[in-house]
Amino acid sequence: MKFELTEEHLMIQKAARDFAQNELLPGVIERDTHEKFPTDQIKMMGELGFMGMMVDPKYGGSGMDTISYVLAMEEISKIDASASVAMSVNNSLVCWGLEKYGTEEQKEKFLKPLASGQLLGAFCLSEPEAGSDATSQKTTAIDKGDHYLLNGTKNWITNGNTASIYLVMAQTDVEKGHRGINCLIVERDMAGFTVGKKEEKMGIRGSDTHSLMFSDVKVPKENRLGEDGFGFKFAMKVLSGGRIGIAAQALGIAAGAYELALKYSKERKAFGKVISNHQAIAFKLADMVTEIDAARLLVHRAAWLKDQGLPFDKESAMAKLFASEVAMKHTVEAVQVHGGYGYVKEYHVERLMRDAKITQIYEGTSEIQRLVISREVLKD
Ligand code: CAA
Repeated sequence: MKFELTEEHLMIQKAARDFAQNELLPGVIERDTHEKFPTDQIKMMGELGFMGMMVDPKYGGSGMDTISYVLAMEEISKIDASASVAMSVNNSLVCWGLEKYGTEEQKEKFLKPLASGQLLGAFCLSEPEAGSDATSQKTTAIDKGDHYLLNGTKNWITNGNTASIYLVMAQTDVEKGHRGINCLIVERDMAGFTVGKKEEKMGIRGSDTHSLMFSDVKVPKENRLGEDGFGFKFAMKVLSGGRIGIAAQALGIAAGAYELALKYSKERKAFGKVISNHQAIAFKLADMVTEIDAARLLVHRAAWLKDQGLPFDKESAMAKLFASEVAMKHTVEAVQVHGGYGYVKEYHVERLMRDAKITQIYEGTSEIQRLVISREVLKD
């Protein structure tokens, strides 16, 4: 067992860290305040190869492993979780799904521009009445021979208004339940597709979250991903990998808050000494660094399993569950270490605390992760 990163991994980690410091940090507070999507920065991330990290270079990707991806996700999330969620959805839900299950034509047409960062993708599963209970899709895709007629509404869609290509889950045959769901590739300019209201969120406010409406959208049959009725399993498989990305995001948020708390504690004086010399603070830092390291090990193990082609459903759920709880707990502690300064925007930790909360909710709540884990450990 080796706990060392390769030279290449260290280079990617450094490139992501430098990018985050130089390009994401300036303006991150303003983007959060005004709910501004990091358009220029996402474009640069595409140019640097961060938007299709695991995709084969022949389809415009960077051809890297999942370890490289989680290293980059962690560094970018330390600074700007709004940028990293756009990156995560594009990489692990949209690109990975297209590369693994798409036809050659779909890869040429859709994967290439997405993996090279020219276009952005969105993954559309959640509905007003189907969040955790994802089998209860109300959006319908009626089979009309050479096309599907798509009708319905999707909610809380990341990259909702900035994407050009949407993977949309919809029910084709209600009688068949989850086996009657299909995943359709919807293009932005298809008639009948409209982007609805933008959500005003507590955290990741720079990310672009919208509802989407489909009204008699004609989606050609060749835009279906996988076999007829594969849509739900497709979503589950893709989400299982996606949870590694969100776990890495949660890890980055926690680690970013810890780094800020550590630095501040060595500068701020109270009662005649720097506050890191007070055990009340030093012990908080010890708990933070220990639990963040534990989260990192879970994230790296899940990524490693995926790279080896081994089962990782349970381990990705464990990584996401633990890392997101660590993110929530220790961003709160980072605010506490900063005292009154922690409560104001300038010191960044209040934003990280708000951003942390979503990692316990999207791509499956903590309760869903516990369900996935407990089902695995209880099965015969
Ligand atoms: N891989 C392959 N197949 C899977 C699977 C997996 N990981 N998990 C389930 N399945 C299959 C099952 O085998 C079953 O198929 P069969 O009947 O043929 O055997 C089928 O899917 C249905 O599975 P379940 O009976 O387990 O379904 P369920 O109704 O009990 O739900 C669930 C399972 C885990 C709760 C699932 O609904 C779930 O993951 N819900 C959460 C949804 C979610 O994460 N939403 C996030 C939205 S996307 C997002 O947030 C992106 C963003 O913007 C950041």
